Amino acid sequence: MDRQAITDAILALTQGETDTVALMATVVCEIHHHHDFADWTGFYRVVAPDLLKIGPYQGGHGCLVIPFSRGVCGAAARSGRVLNVPDVDAFPDHIACASSTRSELVLPVWNGAGKLLGVLDLDSDTPAAFDRDDEDWLVPLLAQVFEKAE
Ligand code: SME
Repeated sequence: MDRQAITDAILALTQGETDTVALMATVVCEIHHHHDFADWTGFYRVVAPDLLKIGPYQGGHGCLVIPFSRGVCGAAARSGRVLNVPDVDAFPDHIACASSTRSELVLPVWNGAGKLLGVLDLDSDTPAAFDRDDEDWLVPLLAQVFEKAE
């Protein structure tokens, strides 16, 4: 897997774009099709205080609504921290949209003004699919892509 190639494609495709949904759709598409372990890839958007709603995604259908109090996505939104869950069965309150999911990586996404836009949720059917390299790669990439988003 060539993370630099995914980065290059995302930056080229999103150059000058500030629409949040357009950016999310493009990021999801590139990661989903080029990351070796991404079996469900999508954004949940902050739509009200403490409430996430499904955004652009690829894979099987996702849950439509996740409160900040629920699941890995809610925990990432609530805490503002990246959550790498190597075994979803060991995570209390994991929301199983797909029973095939074994591990996941959820990253909070802010714009340049510090507004929390949502979370990026990478789900994999492979146990412990995501590693520190994924976090170190995606955190700065998301900050760059969504800097001017509203
Ligand atoms: N994995 C998430 C739920 C969303 S779906 O699996 C698409 C969670 O527990 O927050």
